[in-house]
Amino acid sequence: MDRQFSLLLAFSLLIAGVAATSFAADESGGDIFIRQVVEDEDHQLNAEEDHFGAFKRKFMKSYASQEEHDYRLSVFKSNLRRAERHQKLDPSAVHGVTQFSDMTPEEFSKHLGLRSRLKFPADASEAPILPTDNLPDDFDWRDHGAVTGVKNQGSCGSCWSFSTTGALEGANFLATGKLESLSEQQLVDCDHECDPEEKGSCDAGCNGGLMNSAFEYTLKAGGLMREKDYPYTAKDHGTCKFDKTKVVASVSNFSVVSLDENQIAANLVKHGPLAVAINAVYMQTYIGGVSCPFVCSKRLDHGVLLVGYGASGYAPIRLKEKPYWIIKNSWGENWGENGYYKICKGHNVCGVDSMVSTVAAIHRH
Ligand SMILES: *[C@@H]1O[C@H](CO)[C@@H](O)[C@H](O)[C@H]1NC(C)=O
Repeated sequence: MDRQFSLLLAFSLLIAGVAATSFAADESGGDIFIRQVVEDEDHQLNAEEDHFGAFKRKFMKSYASQEEHDYRLSVFKSNLRRAERHQKLDPSAVHGVTQFSDMTPEEFSKHLGLRSRLKFPADASEAPILPTDNLPDDFDWRDHGAVTGVKNQGSCGSCWSFSTTGALEGANFLATGKLESLSEQQLVDCDHECDPEEKGSCDAGCNGGLMNSAFEYTLKAGGLMREKDYPYTAKDHGTCKFDKTKVVASVSNFSVVSLDENQIAANLVKHGPLAVAINAVYMQTYIGGVSCPFVCSKRLDHGVLLVGYGASGYAPIRLKEKPYWIIKNSWGENWGENGYYKICKGHNVCGVDSMVSTVAAIHRH
């Protein structure tokens, strides 16, 4: 027993050693990421600045002063290095420059907004176990008209409200046959639902919230208004302008799906897009492909919408066939794959299976 354990330990250390060495070799052997964008490695510094220029043009960034510009350039450079690290740790995805490349991790976190609490509100039940045989190999709710266009939360920690509207938009489509874009601002302004077990942990507009609390609010309030009747402002100082006569989608019930990936897939296919939470650290630099990092924290900090899955993502280094989840994000269409993220399926990568909820809408006529 002891001997087996120490063998196992020795083996793990060996693996770790090999991994560390190969990373170190990569580090000294010239950096893959910079090489992609720079022809002359001797002029890396100038190249980084050129790259910054291209970034500013592409994302229409302008800075108030030279000081601000220089500061942003230094942040940009450290984000280039971060993207390189992410590329090495996550070789089946492409990492590089995004609209967040001039932001510090703290500034980036303002584009998230999931409260870290994992307790569920009183009205959430556990989703019944569904049969999982006969699940399709590939499935995408976008092909069935249940998903609205990609939205943009802006610099407001309201991800939770977009995840909530996305799930209810899909459920409402299944219940009524109509795809209505729903109001996040109603949730940002009006939903102050609190965790039943933790005082002071409440949905708080741009300061974060939880999808399950938002379903609870929506259930109690009677439903959500249309996006165009209560438009998004990315600010949370407004008073609540909810008009109950304008509700177009209502929650019938909502439940928490088990950690099992087959159950998640079965609930997705049967009940529509699911509200899920994820750790977003790799998303700051994500350009495309299937994200499947060797290491990723399972600390959940971002609420998104699971809309489908695929059987065989492109993965040059590891398994050839890499199954993945298709995730709708709320950072606009210019981020990721037209606003979407693919993350590998199979082992709760970045916590994607840890907090999944399904909602059912009331049938209307
Ligand atoms: C949830 O609501 C839907 C639609 O009204 C209904 O069909 C379903 O039975 C409900 N589920 C639970 C667990 O109450």
